[in-house]
Amino acid sequence: MNIVAVNGINLAYTRRGKGMPLMLVHGFPLDSSSWNEITPFLEDKFDIILPDLRGFGQSTTIKSPYTMSDMADDLAGLLDHLGIEKTAMAGHSMGGYVTLAFAKKYPNRVSGLGLISSQAAGDPPDRKEGRYKTAAEVAEKGVGVVVDAMTPKLSANADVQAIVRAVMERQKPSALIGALKAMAERENLLPLLSSLRHGSGHAFIFPLLVIHGDHDALIPIDRSKEIKAAMPSAQFVELKGAGHMPMMEFALETSEALNMLK
Ligand code: MLT
Repeated sequence: MNIVAVNGINLAYTRRGKGMPLMLVHGFPLDSSSWNEITPFLEDKFDIILPDLRGFGQSTTIKSPYTMSDMADDLAGLLDHLGIEKTAMAGHSMGGYVTLAFAKKYPNRVSGLGLISSQAAGDPPDRKEGRYKTAAEVAEKGVGVVVDAMTPKLSANADVQAIVRAVMERQKPSALIGALKAMAERENLLPLLSSLRHGSGHAFIFPLLVIHGDHDALIPIDRSKEIKAAMPSAQFVELKGAGHMPMMEFALETSEALNMLK
């Protein structure tokens, strides 16, 4: 694991493989180890950059609130440090929200964008309220409340559940609290995707790939169908039988889909 000082935090990352750059951005409340099962299938084609988002894994947190856009700036800082001007990116779930924020802010630095088990829409009011409630519970009782609630929703596969439970248990409460607030306040970026279809000139100038399991119990596959409807040129890969963690549950199939970003 390497650590680099960017944007006022220490950002941890690893790098594997050879080829065109591909940054893989993990979801909530996980870390870059989310990609351990899939990287062996990708490392002969891509120079894979695997950051721990601020607060998660070995990256440090700063006092919240911070935004998806701040998290996107962290990734831009990492790319600057690595001397990479432009990269393909794929984000899992919350990682997808961060990559969308990155793509909005730095469209010229993205050669292709993959959204795995994610969505472009923002939170409806009740979900937003629920995130603040969960953040308060984490502050009071620790990460266990989220671990217990999320584990069964992430995957029906017992092996995958055991892996993600262990990863979630080692995360810092401050990371969960900061990310929950950042997710609650994130922008609805569906209109940004729609604007492309209507030719208003808003600059999503790279290929978009959406990957979603039809058994996702956390973010329904309809959220990806909505992206495809907003942006018909997007490639949509439906993974039959996959839950919220396709890069672990169906690593080979997910890697084959990500090859479209090449
Ligand atoms: C994730 O898996 O990254 C999050 O659960 C997504 C979310 O809560 O919206």
